[in-house]
Amino acid sequence: HPATQANLKTLESYGNHIIEPATGELASGLEGKGRMEEPEKIVTWLEGFLKKKQRFTGKKVLITAGPTFEKIDPVRFIGNYSSGKMGLALAEALVEEGADVSLILGPNLEVGNPRLHRVRRESGIGNRQAEIGRISLIHVVSGEEMYKEAHEIYPDMDVSIMAAAVADFKPLDPKESKIKGKEKGFSIDLVPNPDIAKELGKLKRADQLNIGFALETDEGLESALAKKHRKNFDLIVLNSLQDQGAGFGGDTNQITLIAKDNKPRKFELKSKKDVAKDILDEIVRIGNQDQKLFP
Ligand code: PMT
Repeated sequence: HPATQANLKTLESYGNHIIEPATGELASGLEGKGRMEEPEKIVTWLEGFLKKKQRFTGKKVLITAGPTFEKIDPVRFIGNYSSGKMGLALAEALVEEGADVSLILGPNLEVGNPRLHRVRRESGIGNRQAEIGRISLIHVVSGEEMYKEAHEIYPDMDVSIMAAAVADFKPLDPKESKIKGKEKGFSIDLVPNPDIAKELGKLKRADQLNIGFALETDEGLESALAKKHRKNFDLIVLNSLQDQGAGFGGDTNQITLIAKDNKPRKFELKSKKDVAKDILDEIVRIGNQDQKLFP
């Protein structure tokens, strides 16, 4: 009945999992789909579900997320539109699967996430690390700070996911007082920021996996592949601003995954939470295949 179908969809939308009915003889005497599934099959399904949920138990995962702000003077910075939502969705999906997550988060402009704000208030000034469940949250502002934090903990990590939109350049000489004389215009000398992903890629051991993102506007596949090789990623997640609902800010994303075989796999537009689950499935697949990271 359409009402039953709608109710099931509503239940699923709340995060419930549906074990479909079996096909066979029904109480009405008719044959069809509608029998309660056999108890043994329900138990097998539950065992599989619970096992899947524990895939990252004991694994240490580093995530970089959000933008970085590069100081020009006390009132201005170079930054970008990243909200940190994609990285946070990954952190939450990983914690649900038992991982021990270190989330290095740039100065995030997102005001709608109560969890983040609760932690920020609790952590206060001068306490840059706070625990949310098993997510260790490390607040940073600049690319240089993000690099230092990531570099310090990287040797301890099993998996590192670089979802941050790090500013590629920073002002050579940030000023301590507000730059005046705007009416005449002013120029800023820029120097490159450390490439966190590339530097960690150089340190990567055989028992570690590095996952990168590529945010593109055009020639996405080519650029993503080049970045995958240049930065020594095991997997790159391409998102393109050409796809509506993908990329910065929103609650959805549309991704293409490129793993070792270099064959792109494009996914549907989904919530960032569901995108995170697709990424975790792929990480487990790669970890099983190559390094037996997930026996
Ligand atoms: O935060 P949201 O609003 O949810 O948006 C999510 C996102 C669009 C920011 C995310 O999905 C994403 O695509 N992140 C990477 C954005 C990016 O800067 O891509 P890139 O192509 O410039 O960088 C390639 C890779 O190198 C990325 O893994 C990046 O984190 C890393 N990098 C880049 C420069 C740098 N100096 N250090 C880095 O580690």
